[in-house]
Amino acid sequence: MAKNKTQFLCNHCGSVHVKWMGKCPDCGTWDSLEEYKTPTFDERAARTSKGLRATGDLAQGATAVAIGQIEEADTPRTKCGIAEFDRILGGGMVPGSAILVGGEPGIGKSTLLLQVAEALARAKGPVVKGKQATRPVLYVTSEESAAQTALRAARLGAKSANLLVLAETNVERIINQIHQHEPAAVVIDSIQMIYKPDRPAAPGSVTQLRDCCMDLVYLAKSAGVSVFFVGHVTKAGTLAGPKIIEHIVDTVVYFEGDRYHSHRIVRCVKNRFGSTHEVGLFEMTGSGLVEVSDPGKLFVEQYGPGGPPSGSVITAAMQGSRVLLVEVQALTASSVIGAAKRKVSGASSDRVAMIIAVLEKRAELRLAADDVFVNIAGGVKVAEPAIDLAIALAIASAHLNRPIAAGTLVVGELGLGGEVRSVPQLEHRLREGARLGCGVGVVPRMGGNVPKLGGMAVHEVRTLGQAMATL
Ligand SMILES: Nc1ncnc2c1ncn2[C@@H]1O[C@H](COP(=O)(O)OP(=O)(O)O)[C@@H](O)[C@H]1O
Ligand SMILES: [Mg+2]
Repeated sequence: MAKNKTQFLCNHCGSVHVKWMGKCPDCGTWDSLEEYKTPTFDERAARTSKGLRATGDLAQGATAVAIGQIEEADTPRTKCGIAEFDRILGGGMVPGSAILVGGEPGIGKSTLLLQVAEALARAKGPVVKGKQATRPVLYVTSEESAAQTALRAARLGAKSANLLVLAETNVERIINQIHQHEPAAVVIDSIQMIYKPDRPAAPGSVTQLRDCCMDLVYLAKSAGVSVFFVGHVTKAGTLAGPKIIEHIVDTVVYFEGDRYHSHRIVRCVKNRFGSTHEVGLFEMTGSGLVEVSDPGKLFVEQYGPGGPPSGSVITAAMQGSRVLLVEVQALTASSVIGAAKRKVSGASSDRVAMIIAVLEKRAELRLAADDVFVNIAGGVKVAEPAIDLAIALAIASAHLNRPIAAGTLVVGELGLGGEVRSVPQLEHRLREGARLGCGVGVVPRMGGNVPKLGGMAVHEVRTLGQAMATL
């Protein structure tokens, strides 16, 4: 029989240690460690099978039910009316859900959430007993004063009487206010600045972040209040990032791109109530974030009569259920053999390294003595391999200094053998390209299923060499 293992439990912060110490290393409290014996497997087994059944505790818990007999909870959604935001959440806000909105400082989190709060405050709530129930929306600002928020609200035109602002950092007082006003949704801007007074740790620390978030999520679930958390992500990662609360919340969305572009891409990376990878597109203007419902040629530069320079290729990337036409730019410059730089922005640098190797080996392009720079224009990030061929042709075009004609759409995954592989949703991508006036398409083989696209000549290619010969 296994022996009981002795451990020491801090009665203040709940951390477990292997030896007794005068001071808890986690929370710093003196004389708080108590001896604690972990039950052995046999003890645990005895407790669950005989002990609990005898006392009747088991009868009070949840009982297992056949999956077919469980009523599906139809998730009624509240649309906030900002279509791009509703799209990211999978068709609107689910009551009682917890949503984390992350992003770098200054990217527009407060702006977006104040707009969402205003829109929700104006939105009509569900009809309860024949009456339109309108519940307020509570915006908790823990970083800025109420006056600063009011200033921003004036700029954004948010003046609904249903939108309440609370400048508070103590999570218990925040919860008290939530109980008092019974809002439909609460915005916590930001989670890194609020604290639980009975924890000695500083705001923003792992303990505070997790405990405050847990308390608010528990409240969200039990009272049916949706909670939006704002979390800062810093490039250096010195602050306890919002990563540690990702598993506690239902939905996680991140701002992408940088604050130097006027366009903001908001991407859903986790969603318990809908599809992930959905993106929302916004433009930052003086009166707040304006939605961009038809991105069209937003990320594609319109070159003059001279056509695009060498190294510029247009491709179609899937962003959630939407096709985005993006421009891949490449530049090669002579360098020293062995010290050649490869810099990539917006795409995977591992993928680009592989593409360079394929170009060297299969297309006999000598790139070893060249610096190679690859950029996806407009601050968009594309992770899918469907843009491989476009990257390869952009590098080849830059290296050979031969521009690719305007209006050429290139889509395809590149294999190590130099073969061009098929990609998902190819027809969808081609249709979007044709709609936006691309005259030529270079794509993987479609096996006789080439769609009829008015005005677009589709070239199917089997290898990288064929693709280069076509252009
Ligand atoms: N008057 C204005 N006109 C245009 N853009 C503005 C104006 N004021 C602020 N902004 C934009 O809003 C951004 C700040 O947004 P904010 O929501 O405070 O960011 P976060 O909460 O993510 O730190 C600024 O970086 C700027 O781009
Ligand atoms: Mg802010």
